[in-house]
Amino acid sequence: MILVTGGAGFIGGNFVLNWLNNSQAEGIVNLDKLTYAGNMSTLASLDNDPRHIFIRGDIGDRALVENLLQKYQPRAIINFAAESHVDRSIHGPADFIETNVVGTFNLLESARAFWASLPVEKKALFRFLHVSTDEVYGSLKAEDSPFRESDVYAPNSPYSASKAASDHLVRAWFHTYGLPVLTTNCSNNYGAYHFPEKLIPLVILNALNQKPLPIYGDGQQIRDWLYVADHCSAIRCVLERGQAGETYNIGGWNEKTNLEVVNTICSVLDSLRPRNDGQSYAELIMFVKDRPGHDRRYAIDASKVERELGWCPAETFDTGIRKTIQWYLDNHDWIDGVVSGSYRDWVQKQYT
Ligand code: NAD
Ligand code: DAU
Repeated sequence: MILVTGGAGFIGGNFVLNWLNNSQAEGIVNLDKLTYAGNMSTLASLDNDPRHIFIRGDIGDRALVENLLQKYQPRAIINFAAESHVDRSIHGPADFIETNVVGTFNLLESARAFWASLPVEKKALFRFLHVSTDEVYGSLKAEDSPFRESDVYAPNSPYSASKAASDHLVRAWFHTYGLPVLTTNCSNNYGAYHFPEKLIPLVILNALNQKPLPIYGDGQQIRDWLYVADHCSAIRCVLERGQAGETYNIGGWNEKTNLEVVNTICSVLDSLRPRNDGQSYAELIMFVKDRPGHDRRYAIDASKVERELGWCPAETFDTGIRKTIQWYLDNHDWIDGVVSGSYRDWVQKQYT
């Protein structure tokens, strides 16, 4: 078995589905608190799969986690669970500290107690893989080189500060206690099952509903986009071949301004689902108030994971964004389930 946390969220859900797609794969214990971002309909296809054991619970619940570890004896923990949305962290940072910092600390302590109890051979094979973000490195200027693993941390938002704190804890548990950890710092993901509070799914759904496409500030902020299945393959690769104690930057070498991303989505939609009035979806673009403390540019130098572990992404931005848009066109039921009252409340709070 492996223990996955946050496996009902966007990346965790994709990871669980991809992993269990392989009929030879080990089973997964999936621990998720089911916050607003957790969605069991993402995992509906696994309802009758005995290899998927879903547990609703908090990574910070030591008694629960220690029980699960003793019962299922996983060879690895992959920690996706987090509060992940920068805008929400600005409105209310407390949950980010609670889950991303205190929750990760408790999970590390549970993992350490379990790992210490293992026999020597199992102890050597055990891994704690912590999934983190490029945002911990702060903001780049246009002329700066992409983030490398050796760069200093300079987080700017409550979200990135909480993730940076969790990365530091993970690092310390390796250096102090010898817990065999791996950390991945990935760039912006996009793909199926992405909650529509984030730019790409928000723009696709708003466009299909003829609503404004909100661009913060001047839209010239740069993000480095990676198709979610490529992030999942990188995590599998780091889990199997990564060296304990190391961190690996993961990215797709796909730097784009937000305006470019939104224009690309509009032109793909123009060809796949033309508007009745003959206009382009780009007519719906609306520049809105900027995000406070908005980081200007992120870019990942993924050469370490490529060189040392032989990983590379399968999708370019053009192929990945087409697959993503097609997925949103084909999956009304999932979308209808997500766009609930609490989602509408968030949109109201953020965009009025
Ligand atoms: P998400 O918000 O879609 O999902 C997070 C999941 O964690 C949800 O299912 C939620 O219910 C669960 N969760 C939250 N608090 C929990 C707790 N205390 N205990 C157990 N479960 C809890 O997030 P995501 O976009 O899938 O991101 C997953 C991880 O990857 C996060 O750690 C995030 O920081 C990191 N990451 C995300 C991106 C991205 O572009 N989305 C990029 C790099 C790294
Ligand atoms: O870089 C990795 C990070 O990417 C992850 O760690 C985070 O969990 C994930 O949410 C994502 O953070 P961002 O803040 O970059 O993603 P978001 O989709 O919220 O925003 C992408 C860019 O688009 C950002 O520059 C803000 C801008 N934006 C976002 C929204 C929601 C807009 O212009 N308009 C919007 O309505």
